[in-house]
Amino acid sequence: MKIDILTVLPGLLESPFAHSMLKRARDRNLLEIGVHNLRDWAINSHGQVDDYQYGGGAGMVMMCEPLANAIEALAARNPFDEIIFMTPDGEKLTQKMANQLSLKNHFLIVCGHYKGIDQRIRENFVTKEISVGDYVLSGGELAAAILVDAIGRLIPGVLNNETSALSDSFQDDLLAPAVYTRPANFRGWTVPEVLLGGDPQKVEEWRHESSLQRTRDRRPDLLKD
Ligand code: ADE
Repeated sequence: MKIDILTVLPGLLESPFAHSMLKRARDRNLLEIGVHNLRDWAINSHGQVDDYQYGGGAGMVMMCEPLANAIEALAARNPFDEIIFMTPDGEKLTQKMANQLSLKNHFLIVCGHYKGIDQRIRENFVTKEISVGDYVLSGGELAAAILVDAIGRLIPGVLNNETSALSDSFQDDLLAPAVYTRPANFRGWTVPEVLLGGDPQKVEEWRHESSLQRTRDRRPDLLKD
């Protein structure tokens, strides 16, 4: 899989992909990430990529020309399956969406800044708009990092234990069960007996019940269907 990211702050995206799972994915050539500085397509030598908004009002808007030129230049090298714009008014990111996107070969993520990007880019280039939650970040970069992390770990071969992504919270619309590790008794706080008993079927039943209980307590909305 290849993910290109278009941003005015490429430095902000150096660290999130340089550790742990995403580093492993890149090291194993399962995931290629290209971070591109939008200012490389600036309209002048001052690096301008934004301008005042028509109709007045505070806040700059990212201009059509640098965005269109950047998207077209990147697509010419290798066409995109999706062009995603990170925005708080997009469709809310879910595990199902991450699963679907993990099956794509190549997509571009456009990170907005300031007041956002010119609507004409959204209408003529963007194929999917994604929000990471009902709050406003100062730019799309951290949202893009969340999206790439959620997708990258689903690529086969990225997680050491192939089954562990399937038992994540939300994969079956249930939250993940409680987990424990050694010691079995810490300050008198003990681990449920069934997990120490070595009967895989009983462990599986206990985990399912723990998932259901957690989901009922914390996210009853997930059980609606
Ligand atoms: N950019 C700013 N806030 C955002 C959000 N909540 N989701 C995605 N992109 C954003």
